Amino acid sequence: MNDSKRLIIKDLKKEFNGFWALKGLNLELSPGEIFVLLGPNGAGKTTTLKLITGLLHPTQGEIFIEGINIKESPIKAKSLIGYVPDEPFIYPKLTGREFINLVASIYRVKKADYEKRSKELFEKFDIGEWIDELSEGYSHGMKQRIIMCQLLLHNPVLILIDEPLVGLDPKTARTVRETFLSLKDQKKTLFISTHTLSFAREVATRLGIINHGELKFTGTLEELAEISGRKNIEEIYLKLTEE
Ligand SMILES: Nc1ncnc2c1ncn2[C@@H]1O[C@H](COP(=O)(O)OP(=O)(O)OP(=O)(O)O)[C@@H](O)[C@H]1O
Ligand SMILES: [Mg+2]
Repeated sequence: MNDSKRLIIKDLKKEFNGFWALKGLNLELSPGEIFVLLGPNGAGKTTTLKLITGLLHPTQGEIFIEGINIKESPIKAKSLIGYVPDEPFIYPKLTGREFINLVASIYRVKKADYEKRSKELFEKFDIGEWIDELSEGYSHGMKQRIIMCQLLLHNPVLILIDEPLVGLDPKTARTVRETFLSLKDQKKTLFISTHTLSFAREVATRLGIINHGELKFTGTLEELAEISGRKNIEEIYLKLTEE
């Protein structure tokens, strides 16, 4: 086992009622990587992320986070992960602050850390006085910003995000991009699924292309350009996902 790897995925397979959504995925991620997973609708991106978080159980294969097998030590493994699902949920009758408190208590964040980090995050994502309003009154983008705060509150080392930019205004999208790059500099590992190719081009240290439950390519943008014979990320993507 290579302990310097933050995430190791070995021969991961997932079957839903006879349909193989993932067909044997292998991947290793190191500290300081932003891995961006691209692929058509239904390719298996969300399934992969849910398997890593432990929300789904693999039909076959193994997942290690910092050398910890998530099947053997799920609670310990989950404490290292931050996750934003494709359709984030905040209890409508909680205020942003109550929701963040709830998340902090689930992750057992120490009081001093909570006070310092929540203050920094609320400022960074410009939450302002919305923090004490019921979340049912939040706009889509405000919910996304609260979700970004809950993501980082417990200082996770492996950050999994399913479609981070949907519905964010340009200023918030930039804050999110800058936050990801600064997390990379802090040697966190990010695993991001997206359809926003410009975002992938700007933040990814390595890209993966998945299609029909198979990881077809992984590499830097330069490496994928070489494989596909194309330069522009959209053309690279279209070439590598064509049937
Ligand atoms: N709970 C489930 N039951 C049955 N089939 C499922 C289930 N979850 C996912 N699938 C199927 O597995 C395949 C992969 O789905 P997944 O959600 O991982 O795709 P995706 O790459 O995230 O797509 P998108 O870009 O649309 O978000 C799809 O064919 C989907 O219908
Ligand atoms: Mg998805």
